[in-house]
Order: sequence, then structure tokens, then C-alpha cells
Amino acid sequence: MFANHHLELFKNTETPFYFYDLSVLNSTLAAIKKAAPAEYHIHYALKANAHPALLKIIREAGLGADCVSGNEVKRAVETGYPNNKIVFAGVGKSDKEINYALDHSIFCFNVESIHELQVMNQLAGNKNTKANVALRINPNVDAYTHKYITTGLEENKFGINPYEFDAVIEELKKLPNLNFIGLHFHIGSQINDLTAFKNLCARVNEINQWFINKGYLLPHINVGGGLGINYKEPDVHAVVDFESYFNVFKQFLSLQPKQEVHFELGRAIIGQCGSLISRVLYLKHGINTNFAILDAGMTELIRPALYQAYHKIENISASNKKTVKYDVVGPICESSDCFGKSVELPETNRGDLIAIRSAGAYGEVMSSRYNLRDQLNSVIL
Ligand code: LLP
Repeated sequence: MFANHHLELFKNTETPFYFYDLSVLNSTLAAIKKAAPAEYHIHYALKANAHPALLKIIREAGLGADCVSGNEVKRAVETGYPNNKIVFAGVGKSDKEINYALDHSIFCFNVESIHELQVMNQLAGNKNTKANVALRINPNVDAYTHKYITTGLEENKFGINPYEFDAVIEELKKLPNLNFIGLHFHIGSQINDLTAFKNLCARVNEINQWFINKGYLLPHINVGGGLGINYKEPDVHAVVDFESYFNVFKQFLSLQPKQEVHFELGRAIIGQCGSLISRVLYLKHGINTNFAILDAGMTELIRPALYQAYHKIENISASNKKTVKYDVVGPICESSDCFGKSVELPETNRGDLIAIRSAGAYGEVMSSRYNLRDQLNSVIL
């Protein structure tokens, strides 16, 4: 929902641009604080949006950082996240990235294969240091989400499968430069059915018990992120129901008293505070449809083209009561450059402002320079 002062500002700003509404971000952070027990460690997944100004606000709310590249670790360090609150995951960390993170003594590496454990051990040894590692486990739990953003199934490339556990334990005994401190899980993204997290808890309990039986009581259990947002109604559900989410873990995760729980949330924190604001360039009558052609495209928000994702589209400057259906498309030379088909909007004119909502997560970070598009500015208010 945009207030008059937003519209005044937007009218005088070159489009397209990303708009981040800090009131939504701050309400979200307050809701997390209220819902999460004090002993839960929440890490913000930088991959969703790594804008320094937003990172600073999230850090000030007390969250840690979940990174998936050396540059994300660097961004977290540079925006003031304490080293002992930075975790680093990823199925293919390069030596350069590992070395950077070792130099900054980050809290933990989430390691995804036996081979990676061996390399990590060697690189830590070269620096005469020890790396804290958690094993990223593939729990084989269905997240009931889009197949491109499901990660916790055996067929996915992520994590270590249970049939490898014995071999991992044997290998760890030979790797003196690693401190084995935890288990890490992440089953997918945009998960709205909390049953998936309940099923995850059951698997975590089993796997945790397996390690305890082998003599490993691991102090840190990281259950990943993945909590979804409501793309259909970004105003009614601007803040996610964190209470129900954390309640699942309170109720179903059975850990030992000394075990601490970690989360890695991205989209649920940053998704709803962002919109992509653009202007209508042209209107065109197709055979069965009308096209509204925007100055923003899949280069600024690729989710609809890549995952057939729904984002609410609003004409925020039109005052017309009459509505018309449009295929809302961008200027890029690809047929998939379409934000929505048959979208009902007030009758639309050249120059009208169009907001594509819920673009805070996986919008700006996934933008590209394809067609040599300009890199966009963002407006933070
Ligand atoms: N932890 C790990 C290990 C992850 O792989 C991810 C996301 C997260 C945490 C944060 O997940 P979130 O809470 O944001 O769901 N580009 C896709 C989403 C890819 C998610 C990748 N991993 C999209 O636009 O839907």
C-alpha cells in the first residue's frame, strides 16, 4: 500500500527502481523478536537481498548472517556483522572463498560433502587454524514447493545423504583441523505449508539421535530457512506469521538441553518490504489481449520468467474506475519477459506508475545486465 507521499516521490524519480519500505521491514523484525524464544539464533540469508542499508537494519535487530559465497561473507563483515554470527553454506565453495572466511574466523562452515571436508581441513591447516564445521544433511523431506526451489530431496545436489554418515564420521577422525560442531538442514524455499517443517523436525530428531548414539552430542542444530510469504495479498499479510512457524519447532524439535537452534530466513524477512516500481512505456492491442509494456523487465525481477512466480501488479497512479485486462510485459527480447497475463488493472496510460509487489527477496540480487540494461537505484524510505 502506498501513501500519498510515496506517490509524490515516485512521480519525481526515474524508473524503474526498487523501493524498500522500512516500516514493513521494521514490523517484520519486531514480529520475529516477539515470536522467537531468546535462545533461538536467527541468521538473515543475504542471498535474498544484500543491500548494505537493509543489512545494517537487520544486524541492528540482532540477527546473524547466512552467506553462500565469499562475497556475501565479505558483505556481512563489511556491514558490521560480528564474525561469530556468520555462517557460510554452499555446495561449491572455492579455496579463495574458504580462505577469506577462515581469515575472518566465521562462526561455522556448513559443509556439503566429504571431499569438501578434506579440502577445508587442508586449508585450515595451511593457516594453522581450525574451522568450525556443521554437516549439511540432506534429510529427504519434501518441501511441497516449486521444484526449482526444493533442496532437501535425495535427488537434489545439496547436502550429505544418511547412507554416507558412517563414512563421514570415519573421515572426520582423520581431519584434525576441523571442529565438528553441528548439523545443518534446509529443505527449500517459499514454504507455506508448515507441515513440511513439522516433517523436517521429525527427521532432525532422528538424525540428531543417530549422531548422539555414535557419541556426538553436537551443540548446534541449524534448521535452515524457507518460510514463505503471501504473494497474493502483500498488504493484508505484510508480516509473516512467525509465531506459528516458531511454534512448530518449539513443539516438534526435541533437542538435548545444551543444543542450540539456528535458523536462516531470507524471504520471510525481506520479501514484503520491496516493490519494483516502473512506468508504462506503451500500450498495444494484441489479437486476444492488450499489452502494457513496462520500462522494467525480467532483468530487474526474474522470478515470473524463471519460476512462473506470481507477483501482485498494481497501477498505483491511475484514477480510472474502469478496468481492463492486460498482459504486463517488459522490454527485454525474450517472450518469457512477462510479469503477468490477463492482469486486471484500471485503464492504463503511458506514464502510469506500476508497482510489482513482494520484490524485496530474490529481486535486486537476481537482476542482470542482459541487453546491457542499466543497474537500478533503490529508494529506501
Ligand atoms: N539457507 C539455505 C541453505 C538456502 O539455500 C536458502 C535459500 C536459505 C537459507 C533462505 O531461504 P528463504 O528463507 O529465503 O526461503 N531464488 C529463489 C529462491 C532460492 C532460495 C535458495 N536458498 C526464488 O526467487 O524463489
